Amino acid sequence: MIDKISTLQDVQDLYAWFQTMRDTQPVWRDERSGFWHIFRFSDVNTVISDYHTFSSARPRVAGAESATTTSTQENSTPGFGKMLTQIDPPLHRHYRNLVSPSFTPRALSSLAERIAAIAQELVDKVRARGHMDFVTDFAYPLPATVIAEMLGVPLSDRPIFKQWADGLFATQLSDADIERFINQPAMAQQFTRIAEEMHDYFKTLLEERHHQPRKDMMSELLAAEIEGERLHLEDVISFCILLLLAGHVTTTNLLSQAIRCFSEHPAAQDQLRAQPGLMPGAVEEVLRYASPVWRLLRTTKSAVTLNDITIPAGSWVFSWLASANRDERQFSEPEQFTITRTPNHHLSFGHGIHFCLGAPLARLEACTALPILIEQLPDLRVAPDQPSELLEGISLFGFQHLPITFTAALPTTDIKE
Ligand code: HEM
Repeated sequence: MIDKISTLQDVQDLYAWFQTMRDTQPVWRDERSGFWHIFRFSDVNTVISDYHTFSSARPRVAGAESATTTSTQENSTPGFGKMLTQIDPPLHRHYRNLVSPSFTPRALSSLAERIAAIAQELVDKVRARGHMDFVTDFAYPLPATVIAEMLGVPLSDRPIFKQWADGLFATQLSDADIERFINQPAMAQQFTRIAEEMHDYFKTLLEERHHQPRKDMMSELLAAEIEGERLHLEDVISFCILLLLAGHVTTTNLLSQAIRCFSEHPAAQDQLRAQPGLMPGAVEEVLRYASPVWRLLRTTKSAVTLNDITIPAGSWVFSWLASANRDERQFSEPEQFTITRTPNHHLSFGHGIHFCLGAPLARLEACTALPILIEQLPDLRVAPDQPSELLEGISLFGFQHLPITFTAALPTTDIKE
């Protein structure tokens, strides 16, 4: 079992380990941690979809209780109110219905122009340089700006969002760390401190909107009702935190992985430059080949048998999306990066009732921004002589820093007709 991912070699080793596990122990209990791990596409699909058996509610963590956990409803996360990702039916449907209309492809179509404008502005800042840190200069600010504008939070606070996201995700917990997290309240308290900062931040913004509603998602959530009742303020706060974090962290990783894949596969990059219509398929292939979310956690509500192995009730079960997406039982030549792959039913956005709400937004951002990059930054590739830095941990697959180079040119704003 690999605990930490620090280099692309570690990533290759992890994928090799997945293959071994899919073939030999597709349903595996790690004796060190007691956690279960699922590797094959069909089993992963079952675990993340069958909410009757596999709950999304998180077990409570000792020491992480805080003043902010005042939501009276069940299933709230320590430090947060109720998180959509961590509630089961029937409540899940009520909460999801509140925000679903804002995330349909039709509702988002009006955003395409704005996304293109943000992408263009970011490209113009670096075009003449011939190099950039792709994460800092593009992959982070683009989705962070889009979700901040949707929610209605001030753009000038973007650096704080990054601090929070880094604190929560960049150094994620390995399985060994999760045990330490459970057994050492100090670690849990550090997590809670960030949760409290985010909580207080959104509380202030929501109180302003309570007195003076605006045309933004925060005001919409405040006004929303479930069966005639307004949402508890703590739960609106949780919703905002989830949308802010989920809205940019994973999309940053998708954009960075796309650039890495296009750099490693120059023929695919040339093909995309010549045929931009292939981009939506290419984005799906990046999602499959370099799943931005490594794995999802569920807990068993009752004992269950998968592939002849019985998992007891109350077990923590990790479903490896990244392994499912390379399962040769589902995909032909899964180790190949093929931008024209069809069909391509990967699990990178999950499956079932918790299927990623933001998938249409992430796809729109990627399909709008990547053609601008490919078209305007010729010879785009990962810098061969500067180290890239991966996010640590085994929940998210992305980069902290990704230096890239390209042929320098004048910003579009400086080009005279
Ligand atoms: C490439 C980008 C993204 C990836 C790979 C991704 C991945 C995922 C996955 C795997 C899940 C399922 C979680 C589970 O079953 O436990 C999920 C859920 C979710 N995602 Fe995304 N996501 C992305 C972008 C976004 C964006 C842009 C937003 C928007 C605001 C978003 C909001 C959400 C929400 C709210 C949920 C919870 C849905 C529910 O529990 O019903 N995601 N995402």
